[in-house]
Amino acid sequence: MTAIGIIGGSGLYAMEGFEQTEERVVETPFGAPSDALVGGTIGGRQVWFLPRHGRGHRILPHEINHRANIWALKSLGVRYIICVTAVGSLKEEYAPRNIVLPDQYFDRTGRREHHTFFGKGIAAHIAFGEPVSEGLRNLLYESAKQEGATVHNGGTYVNMDGPAFSTKAESEVNRKLGFDVIGMTNVPEAKLAREAEIALSTLAMVTDYDCWHEEEEAVTVQTVIGHLTANAKLAQKIIQRTVPHIPEDASWPEHSALDTALITPKEYWPE
Ligand code: ADE
Repeated sequence: MTAIGIIGGSGLYAMEGFEQTEERVVETPFGAPSDALVGGTIGGRQVWFLPRHGRGHRILPHEINHRANIWALKSLGVRYIICVTAVGSLKEEYAPRNIVLPDQYFDRTGRREHHTFFGKGIAAHIAFGEPVSEGLRNLLYESAKQEGATVHNGGTYVNMDGPAFSTKAESEVNRKLGFDVIGMTNVPEAKLAREAEIALSTLAMVTDYDCWHEEEEAVTVQTVIGHLTANAKLAQKIIQRTVPHIPEDASWPEHSALDTALITPKEYWPE
């Protein structure tokens, strides 16, 4: 059965309508994922949850084993991933508690050898001009609208390394470059999902105006957590509404990304 992966905060486990059936500890060739995966169903569809930072939020963005996370989801039959995440806003119109569904990413991370399954004898280059699954993003958009969210369909997510938040100079440069929101985790997830032929879309919750806004307080962990907690139910409702509409066996372009990328054979992937 085709499964749907959800990467996000551990608060999502407790979500209404998610019938948990099992917990799976998965080992991968890249080591251990952030935590055990929690399996169950939403509206009859198989779902696997993975807390990005581990239960109790123990893992910093640059410490996340993204390869193990995506590999584990792939090995459990996941063909779609929804990344639930907090972001800072770089534009006035993206206000705290708004939802943004980015359609572009800009990679300002380092550690690039950790952000690919390839290398060490396996050569491939995925096409990544359209890094987000349009099909999944539009399903999320429809659900978010139906839930009454203020939602922006599209926008560019710039991925900084962290763990420190930006300086004002960095925030101003990011704004000048035209980026819409900023976060610390989604680009590696998106790249690895594409290499694994999984359709991925980000459900980003705006939690702050980073540190550029003259009338708003600069971002702190407290601001982020405050808005995330207040908006957790909305994210859950959007997911609950979206999951049953995800096609069982779509053949979206993301699902055949390796057709145009792979130099070394496909037998490399887990069944
Ligand atoms: N996550 C939430 N807010 C953020 C910000 N301002 N910068 C980077 N990551 C964030």
